[in-house]
Amino acid sequence: MLTIEGLNTHYGASHVLQGVDLVVPPGRICALLGRNGVGKSTTLRSVMGLVRPTAGRIVLDGTDIAGWQPHLIARAGVAYVPEGRLIFPDLTVIENIQVAQRTPAQAWPIPRLLELFPSLRERSRNKGAHLSGGEQQMLAIARALVSDPKVLLLDEPSQGLAPLVVRELARVIQILCDSGVTILLVEQNMKLAEAVAHELHIMVKGRMVYGASPEKFRAEEAEIRSRYLTV
Ligand SMILES: Nc1ncnc2c1ncn2[C@@H]1O[C@H](COP(=O)(O)OP(=O)(O)OP(=O)(O)O)[C@@H](O)[C@H]1O
Ligand SMILES: [Mg+2]
Repeated sequence: MLTIEGLNTHYGASHVLQGVDLVVPPGRICALLGRNGVGKSTTLRSVMGLVRPTAGRIVLDGTDIAGWQPHLIARAGVAYVPEGRLIFPDLTVIENIQVAQRTPAQAWPIPRLLELFPSLRERSRNKGAHLSGGEQQMLAIARALVSDPKVLLLDEPSQGLAPLVVRELARVIQILCDSGVTILLVEQNMKLAEAVAHELHIMVKGRMVYGASPEKFRAEEAEIRSRYLTV
């Protein structure tokens, strides 16, 4: 579905992604882990076209989309939920979803979204600013779904959320996967990553250094964690 090959991205003179290779198979959830500042968000931003890669390929369903404009990448079937959610505080839940909807959604019309996110249904007339962190995260995901994505990029969706809300998030991610959405999930919350992901991948200094199934990861977790994840 999504194949990243030899991806390099710079911010000015700073060489952040130094040859990222990652395959996200169709219908799967791949978690991307790594310490702060290794380039996880930059990987998602490069895929979405928000920062222009300097080398490498990003192949979506056989087409290299590296360097395309973000709106064309969105049209090709990629959606992105940024770190920090970035919802509109003065718009209601429904309005936040509507502004993202260019053409009527096929797979995820608003009634289906409200079914998927019961907490949003209850608060559909509330303004973004009056939502809890969890509700804001659900809204950010709902907003990404109106473009009917084939691939969903999630950047640390569990950040700042209570354990109960993280469990709700896991439920939603699983439903999306069951509905055929392929997911690349950047996470620091190992519990969430291990609970939902089919594959766990670890990044160090702009390169992938490890990839495994959750079962294999669990078997070697202590060593892998201290080598690549804990500070
Ligand atoms: N817009 C930018 N301009 C210059 N440098 C940047 C920019 N955004 C990120 N960086 C730098 O690029 C490196 C990778 O950042 P990135 O945000 O991709 O890391 P990350 O793995 O997502 O980290 P975190 O876990 O903190 O979210 C860091 O050293 C960061 O300081
Ligand atoms: Mg980040």
